[in-house]
Amino acid sequence: VSKDAEKMIEAHELLKKFYHHLLVNTKEGQKALDYLLNRGFTKEIIDQFEIGYALDSWDFITKFLIKRGFDPHMMEEAGLLVKKSNSDEYFDRFRNRIMFPINDHNGLPIAFSGRVLGDEKPKYLNSPETKIFNKSKLLYNFHRARVHIRKNQQVILFEGFADVISSVKSGVEQSIASMGTSLTEDQAKIIRRNASEVVICYDSDSAGIEATIRASKTLLDAGCKINVAMIPDGLDPDDYIKKFGSEKFRNDVIGASVSLMTFKMNYFRRGKNLQNEGERLQYIENVITELSKLTNAIEKEIYLKQLSKEFELSLDVLNEQLHQKEKQSH
Ligand code: UTP
Ligand code: MN
Ligand code: MN
Ligand code: MN
Ligand code: MN
Repeated sequence: VSKDAEKMIEAHELLKKFYHHLLVNTKEGQKALDYLLNRGFTKEIIDQFEIGYALDSWDFITKFLIKRGFDPHMMEEAGLLVKKSNSDEYFDRFRNRIMFPINDHNGLPIAFSGRVLGDEKPKYLNSPETKIFNKSKLLYNFHRARVHIRKNQQVILFEGFADVISSVKSGVEQSIASMGTSLTEDQAKIIRRNASEVVICYDSDSAGIEATIRASKTLLDAGCKINVAMIPDGLDPDDYIKKFGSEKFRNDVIGASVSLMTFKMNYFRRGKNLQNEGERLQYIENVITELSKLTNAIEKEIYLKQLSKEFELSLDVLNEQLHQKEKQSH
Protein backbone atom coordinates (compact mmCIF):
# COMPACT_ATOMS: atom_id res chain seq x y z
CA VAL A 1 0.00 0.00 0.00
CA SER A 2 1.08 3.54 -0.75
CA LYS A 3 1.81 6.17 1.86
CA ASP A 4 -1.51 7.89 1.01
CA ALA A 5 -3.47 4.68 1.46
CA GLU A 6 -1.82 4.11 4.82
CA LYS A 7 -2.77 7.59 5.95
CA MET A 8 -6.35 7.16 4.77
CA ILE A 9 -6.71 3.89 6.65
CA GLU A 10 -5.23 5.55 9.74
CA ALA A 11 -7.94 8.23 9.55
CA HIS A 12 -10.65 5.59 9.25
CA GLU A 13 -9.19 3.72 12.20
CA LEU A 14 -9.24 6.88 14.29
CA LEU A 15 -12.74 7.95 13.26
CA LYS A 16 -14.14 4.47 13.74
CA LYS A 17 -13.06 4.55 17.38
CA PHE A 18 -14.21 8.12 17.83
CA TYR A 19 -17.67 7.50 16.32
CA HIS A 20 -18.04 4.41 18.50
CA HIS A 21 -17.11 6.40 21.58
CA LEU A 22 -19.65 9.09 20.68
CA LEU A 23 -22.35 6.47 20.34
CA VAL A 24 -21.79 4.51 23.50
CA ASN A 25 -20.39 7.04 25.96
CA THR A 26 -21.84 10.47 25.24
CA LYS A 27 -25.03 12.43 25.72
CA GLU A 28 -24.90 13.50 22.06
CA GLY A 29 -24.97 9.86 21.02
CA GLN A 30 -27.86 8.88 23.26
CA LYS A 31 -30.67 9.18 20.73
CA ALA A 32 -28.70 7.12 18.20
CA LEU A 33 -27.99 4.49 20.85
CA ASP A 34 -31.66 4.40 21.83
CA TYR A 35 -32.59 3.98 18.19
CA LEU A 36 -30.26 0.98 17.85
CA LEU A 37 -31.33 -0.63 21.10
CA ASN A 38 -34.96 -0.19 20.06
CA ARG A 39 -34.22 -1.99 16.83
CA GLY A 40 -32.85 -4.95 18.77
CA PHE A 41 -29.14 -4.24 18.47
CA THR A 42 -27.43 -5.32 21.70
CA LYS A 43 -24.46 -3.64 23.42
CA GLU A 44 -22.35 -6.67 22.50
CA ILE A 45 -23.26 -6.50 18.84
CA ILE A 46 -22.66 -2.72 18.76
CA ASP A 47 -19.18 -3.38 20.14
CA GLN A 48 -18.49 -6.33 17.87
CA PHE A 49 -19.41 -4.41 14.70
CA GLU A 50 -17.86 -1.21 16.06
CA ILE A 51 -20.99 0.77 15.24
CA GLY A 52 -20.77 4.50 15.90
CA TYR A 53 -22.46 7.86 15.60
CA ALA A 54 -21.48 10.96 13.61
CA LEU A 55 -22.48 14.19 15.33
CA ASP A 56 -24.99 16.61 13.89
CA SER A 57 -22.27 19.08 12.88
CA TRP A 58 -20.88 20.49 9.64
CA ASP A 59 -17.24 20.66 10.66
CA PHE A 60 -16.56 18.63 13.80
CA ILE A 61 -14.72 15.87 11.94
CA THR A 62 -13.04 18.34 9.59
CA LYS A 63 -11.49 20.16 12.56
CA PHE A 64 -10.77 16.90 14.37
CA LEU A 65 -8.78 15.57 11.40
CA ILE A 66 -6.94 18.83 10.66
CA LYS A 67 -5.97 19.17 14.30
CA ARG A 68 -4.39 15.73 14.12
CA GLY A 69 -2.34 16.65 11.09
CA PHE A 70 -4.37 15.02 8.33
CA ASP A 71 -4.36 16.84 5.00
CA PRO A 72 -7.97 17.88 4.24
CA HIS A 73 -7.48 17.37 0.53
CA MET A 74 -6.41 13.80 1.15
CA MET A 75 -9.32 13.31 3.54
CA GLU A 76 -11.64 14.46 0.79
CA GLU A 77 -10.09 11.86 -1.50
CA ALA A 78 -10.68 9.32 1.26
CA GLY A 79 -14.38 10.22 1.20
CA LEU A 80 -14.50 11.54 4.75
CA LEU A 81 -14.75 15.24 3.90
CA VAL A 82 -16.47 17.15 1.12
CA LYS A 83 -15.06 20.29 -0.48
CA LYS A 84 -17.34 23.27 -0.94
CA SER A 85 -17.57 24.26 -4.58
CA ASN A 86 -15.68 27.47 -5.48
CA SER A 87 -13.99 27.60 -2.10
CA ASP A 88 -11.16 26.00 -0.21
CA GLU A 89 -13.37 25.01 2.66
CA TYR A 90 -14.23 21.48 3.62
CA PHE A 91 -17.08 20.00 5.61
CA ASP A 92 -18.01 16.62 7.13
CA ARG A 93 -19.53 14.09 4.74
CA PHE A 94 -21.29 12.16 7.50
CA ARG A 95 -23.54 14.15 9.82
CA ASN A 96 -26.10 12.92 12.33
CA ARG A 97 -25.87 9.34 11.15
CA ILE A 98 -25.36 5.89 12.67
CA MET A 99 -21.96 4.84 11.38
CA PHE A 100 -21.20 1.33 10.16
CA PRO A 101 -17.49 0.86 9.52
CA ILE A 102 -16.69 -1.10 6.38
CA ASN A 103 -13.51 -3.16 6.55
CA ASP A 104 -11.49 -4.68 3.77
CA HIS A 105 -10.98 -8.44 3.72
CA ASN A 106 -8.04 -8.14 6.08
CA GLY A 107 -10.14 -6.23 8.59
CA LEU A 108 -8.76 -2.75 7.92
CA PRO A 109 -11.39 0.04 7.98
CA ILE A 110 -11.58 1.67 4.55
CA ALA A 111 -15.05 3.19 4.32
CA PHE A 112 -18.27 3.96 6.20
CA SER A 113 -21.95 3.61 5.61
CA GLY A 114 -24.05 6.06 7.61
CA ARG A 115 -27.74 5.52 8.33
CA VAL A 116 -30.19 8.29 9.16
CA LEU A 117 -32.14 7.94 12.40
CA GLY A 118 -35.43 8.70 10.73
CA ASP A 119 -36.96 8.53 7.27
CA GLU A 120 -34.79 11.10 5.48
CA LYS A 121 -33.14 10.23 2.19
CA PRO A 122 -30.77 8.75 1.42
CA LYS A 123 -31.31 6.15 4.13
CA TYR A 124 -27.72 4.97 3.87
CA LEU A 125 -24.96 7.31 2.78
CA ASN A 126 -21.88 5.38 1.69
CA SER A 127 -18.28 6.44 1.20
CA PRO A 128 -17.54 7.01 -2.48
CA GLU A 129 -15.11 4.84 -4.41
CA THR A 130 -11.61 5.78 -3.32
CA LYS A 131 -8.04 4.63 -3.60
CA ILE A 132 -8.72 2.25 -0.69
CA PHE A 133 -12.41 1.41 -1.24
CA ASN A 134 -13.41 -0.62 -4.28
CA LYS A 135 -17.09 -1.47 -3.78
CA SER A 136 -17.26 -4.04 -6.52
CA LYS A 137 -14.57 -6.19 -4.90
CA LEU A 138 -15.70 -5.91 -1.32
CA LEU A 139 -18.10 -7.97 0.74
CA TYR A 140 -19.39 -6.57 4.01
CA ASN A 141 -18.29 -8.60 7.07
CA PHE A 142 -16.13 -10.92 4.97
CA HIS A 143 -13.09 -10.63 7.24
CA ARG A 144 -15.08 -11.88 10.25
CA ALA A 145 -17.12 -14.44 8.32
CA ARG A 146 -14.27 -16.04 6.37
CA VAL A 147 -13.32 -18.70 8.94
CA HIS A 148 -17.00 -19.69 9.35
CA ILE A 149 -17.51 -19.72 5.59
CA ARG A 150 -14.59 -22.10 5.15
CA LYS A 151 -15.71 -24.32 8.00
CA ASN A 152 -19.33 -24.57 6.82
CA GLN A 153 -18.43 -24.48 3.11
CA GLN A 154 -21.35 -22.12 2.87
CA VAL A 155 -21.99 -18.41 2.48
CA ILE A 156 -25.22 -16.70 3.48
CA LEU A 157 -25.63 -13.64 1.28
CA PHE A 158 -27.78 -10.70 2.41
CA GLU A 159 -28.87 -7.38 0.96
CA GLY A 160 -28.19 -5.13 3.91
CA PHE A 161 -25.77 -4.47 6.74
CA ALA A 162 -28.53 -4.76 9.35
CA ASP A 163 -29.44 -8.20 7.99
CA VAL A 164 -25.85 -9.42 8.31
CA ILE A 165 -25.57 -8.08 11.84
CA SER A 166 -28.85 -9.65 12.98
CA SER A 167 -27.95 -12.93 11.36
CA VAL A 168 -24.61 -13.04 13.18
CA LYS A 169 -26.44 -12.18 16.40
CA SER A 170 -28.74 -15.15 15.79
CA GLY A 171 -25.70 -17.44 15.54
CA VAL A 172 -25.33 -17.64 11.77
CA GLU A 173 -21.79 -16.32 11.38
CA GLN A 174 -21.04 -17.11 7.72
CA SER A 175 -23.03 -13.99 6.78
CA ILE A 176 -21.99 -11.32 4.29
CA ALA A 177 -23.56 -8.65 2.05
CA SER A 178 -22.65 -6.79 -1.10
CA MET A 179 -22.34 -3.01 -0.91
CA GLY A 180 -25.92 -1.95 -1.59
CA THR A 181 -25.52 -2.73 -5.28
CA SER A 182 -26.03 -5.84 -7.40
CA LEU A 183 -23.60 -8.63 -6.70
CA THR A 184 -20.63 -8.29 -9.05
CA GLU A 185 -18.61 -10.93 -10.91
CA ASP A 186 -15.62 -10.16 -8.71
CA GLN A 187 -17.65 -10.66 -5.53
CA ALA A 188 -19.03 -13.95 -6.86
CA LYS A 189 -15.50 -15.17 -7.60
CA ILE A 190 -14.38 -14.31 -4.08
CA ILE A 191 -17.32 -16.24 -2.70
CA ARG A 192 -16.57 -19.25 -4.91
CA ARG A 193 -12.93 -19.32 -3.82
CA ASN A 194 -14.03 -19.74 -0.22
CA ALA A 195 -17.12 -21.95 -0.36
CA SER A 196 -19.05 -24.11 -2.79
CA GLU A 197 -22.55 -23.25 -1.65
CA VAL A 198 -24.34 -19.92 -1.38
CA VAL A 199 -27.66 -19.31 0.32
CA ILE A 200 -29.20 -16.09 -1.00
CA CYS A 201 -31.31 -14.47 1.69
CA TYR A 202 -32.53 -11.16 0.27
CA ASP A 203 -35.56 -9.08 1.22
CA SER A 204 -38.93 -10.53 0.30
CA ASP A 205 -40.12 -7.41 -1.56
CA SER A 206 -40.10 -7.39 -5.35
CA ALA A 207 -36.75 -5.57 -5.48
CA GLY A 208 -35.27 -8.36 -3.36
CA ILE A 209 -36.81 -11.08 -5.49
CA GLU A 210 -35.53 -9.50 -8.72
CA ALA A 211 -32.11 -9.09 -7.12
CA THR A 212 -32.12 -12.77 -6.14
CA ILE A 213 -32.62 -13.78 -9.76
CA ARG A 214 -29.82 -11.45 -10.89
CA ALA A 215 -27.39 -12.58 -8.19
CA SER A 216 -28.13 -16.23 -8.92
CA LYS A 217 -26.99 -15.78 -12.54
CA THR A 218 -23.75 -14.15 -11.47
CA LEU A 219 -23.12 -16.85 -8.88
CA LEU A 220 -23.92 -19.69 -11.28
CA ASP A 221 -21.42 -18.25 -13.76
CA ALA A 222 -18.82 -18.29 -11.00
CA GLY A 223 -19.56 -21.98 -10.37
CA CYS A 224 -21.47 -21.76 -7.10
CA LYS A 225 -24.26 -24.05 -6.00
CA ILE A 226 -27.21 -21.92 -4.99
CA ASN A 227 -30.01 -22.19 -2.49
CA VAL A 228 -32.51 -19.52 -1.58
CA ALA A 229 -33.78 -18.81 1.92
CA MET A 230 -37.20 -17.26 1.66
CA ILE A 231 -38.50 -14.68 4.09
CA PRO A 232 -42.29 -14.32 4.42
CA ASP A 233 -43.83 -11.51 2.42
CA GLY A 234 -42.97 -7.93 3.24
CA LEU A 235 -40.19 -8.58 5.75
CA ASP A 236 -36.45 -8.56 5.44
CA PRO A 237 -34.16 -10.94 7.36
CA ASP A 238 -33.53 -8.38 10.10
CA ASP A 239 -37.27 -7.72 10.52
CA TYR A 240 -37.90 -11.46 10.61
CA ILE A 241 -35.34 -12.09 13.34
CA LYS A 242 -36.73 -9.25 15.41
CA LYS A 243 -40.28 -10.55 15.01
CA PHE A 244 -39.81 -14.32 15.27
CA GLY A 245 -36.46 -14.78 17.00
CA SER A 246 -33.12 -16.42 16.26
CA GLU A 247 -34.18 -20.03 16.52
CA LYS A 248 -36.96 -19.70 13.98
CA PHE A 249 -34.59 -17.83 11.67
CA ARG A 250 -32.03 -20.62 11.87
CA ASN A 251 -34.53 -23.45 11.45
CA ASP A 252 -37.40 -22.10 9.38
CA VAL A 253 -35.48 -19.71 7.12
CA ILE A 254 -31.84 -20.77 6.73
CA GLY A 255 -32.48 -24.44 7.52
CA ALA A 256 -35.48 -24.49 5.18
CA SER A 257 -33.75 -22.89 2.21
CA VAL A 258 -34.82 -24.30 -1.16
CA SER A 259 -33.10 -24.99 -4.46
CA LEU A 260 -32.88 -22.16 -6.98
CA MET A 261 -35.33 -24.05 -9.22
CA THR A 262 -37.94 -24.27 -6.47
CA PHE A 263 -37.46 -20.56 -5.78
CA LYS A 264 -37.97 -19.78 -9.46
CA MET A 265 -41.09 -21.92 -9.59
CA ASN A 266 -42.48 -19.84 -6.73
CA TYR A 267 -41.43 -16.70 -8.54
CA PHE A 268 -43.23 -17.72 -11.75
CA ARG A 269 -46.34 -18.41 -9.70
CA ARG A 270 -46.40 -14.95 -8.20
CA GLY A 271 -49.50 -13.02 -9.21
CA LYS A 272 -50.75 -15.87 -11.44
CA ASN A 273 -54.05 -17.62 -11.05
CA LEU A 274 -53.23 -21.20 -11.96
CA GLN A 275 -56.93 -22.06 -12.21
CA ASN A 276 -56.96 -19.89 -15.31
CA GLU A 277 -55.96 -21.99 -18.30
CA GLY A 278 -53.88 -19.33 -20.06
CA GLU A 279 -51.96 -18.43 -16.94
CA ARG A 280 -51.45 -22.09 -16.13
CA LEU A 281 -49.96 -22.73 -19.57
CA GLN A 282 -47.74 -19.69 -19.17
CA TYR A 283 -46.51 -21.03 -15.86
CA ILE A 284 -45.74 -24.49 -17.26
CA GLU A 285 -43.95 -22.87 -20.21
CA ASN A 286 -41.84 -20.75 -17.84
CA VAL A 287 -40.84 -23.77 -15.78
CA ILE A 288 -39.93 -25.86 -18.82
CA THR A 289 -37.84 -23.02 -20.25
CA GLU A 290 -36.00 -22.87 -16.96
CA LEU A 291 -35.55 -26.65 -16.84
CA SER A 292 -34.04 -26.58 -20.32
CA LYS A 293 -31.14 -24.58 -18.87
CA LEU A 294 -30.33 -27.16 -16.20
CA THR A 295 -27.43 -29.51 -16.84
CA ASN A 296 -28.28 -32.14 -14.27
CA ALA A 297 -30.58 -34.82 -15.73
CA ILE A 298 -31.77 -36.00 -12.33
CA GLU A 299 -32.86 -32.52 -11.37
CA LYS A 300 -34.76 -32.18 -14.64
CA GLU A 301 -36.53 -35.43 -13.98
CA ILE A 302 -37.49 -34.43 -10.44
CA TYR A 303 -39.10 -31.16 -11.49
CA LEU A 304 -40.78 -32.64 -14.55
CA LYS A 305 -42.37 -35.24 -12.31
CA GLN A 306 -43.58 -32.47 -10.01
CA LEU A 307 -45.18 -30.67 -12.95
CA SER A 308 -46.68 -33.86 -14.24
CA LYS A 309 -48.24 -34.61 -10.87
CA GLU A 310 -49.50 -31.13 -10.12
CA PHE A 311 -51.14 -30.53 -13.49
CA GLU A 312 -52.01 -34.12 -14.40
CA LEU A 313 -49.92 -34.08 -17.56
CA SER A 314 -48.11 -37.10 -18.93
CA LEU A 315 -44.34 -37.19 -18.47
CA ASP A 316 -43.97 -38.01 -22.16
CA VAL A 317 -45.62 -34.78 -23.25
CA LEU A 318 -43.59 -32.72 -20.80
CA ASN A 319 -40.38 -34.44 -21.87
CA GLU A 320 -41.10 -33.77 -25.50
CA GLN A 321 -41.74 -30.11 -24.77
CA LEU A 322 -38.49 -29.94 -22.82
CA HIS A 323 -36.49 -31.49 -25.67
CA GLN A 324 -37.92 -28.95 -28.10
CA LYS A 325 -36.90 -26.13 -25.80
CA GLU A 326 -33.41 -27.56 -25.48
CA LYS A 327 -33.06 -27.70 -29.26
CA GLN A 328 -34.18 -24.07 -29.57
CA SER A 329 -31.62 -22.82 -27.12
CA HIS A 330 -28.73 -24.56 -28.89
P1 UTP B 1 -32.78 -1.73 2.33
O1 UTP B 1 -33.62 -0.58 1.90
O2 UTP B 1 -33.36 -3.08 2.28
O3 UTP B 1 -32.24 -1.34 3.75
O4 UTP B 1 -31.44 -1.66 1.47
P2 UTP B 1 -32.07 -2.24 5.06
O5 UTP B 1 -30.76 -2.95 4.97
O6 UTP B 1 -33.28 -3.08 5.30
O7 UTP B 1 -31.92 -1.08 6.13
P3 UTP B 1 -32.75 -0.80 7.45
O8 UTP B 1 -33.15 -2.10 8.05
O9 UTP B 1 -33.90 0.06 7.08
O10 UTP B 1 -31.76 -0.05 8.29
C1 UTP B 1 -30.50 -2.72 1.46
C2 UTP B 1 -29.11 -2.19 1.34
O11 UTP B 1 -29.02 -1.30 0.25
C3 UTP B 1 -28.10 -0.26 0.52
C4 UTP B 1 -27.55 -0.54 1.91
O12 UTP B 1 -26.36 -1.29 1.77
C5 UTP B 1 -28.64 -1.36 2.55
O13 UTP B 1 -28.15 -2.15 3.61
N1 UTP B 1 -28.73 1.07 0.50
C6 UTP B 1 -30.04 1.23 0.78
C7 UTP B 1 -27.93 2.16 0.23
O14 UTP B 1 -26.72 2.02 -0.02
N2 UTP B 1 -28.50 3.41 0.26
C8 UTP B 1 -29.81 3.60 0.56
O15 UTP B 1 -30.25 4.77 0.61
C9 UTP B 1 -30.61 2.49 0.81
MN1 MN C 1 -16.88 -0.56 22.71
MN1 MN D 1 -34.35 -4.04 0.38
MN1 MN E 1 -34.02 -4.50 3.85
MN1 MN F 1 -34.09 -3.75 7.19
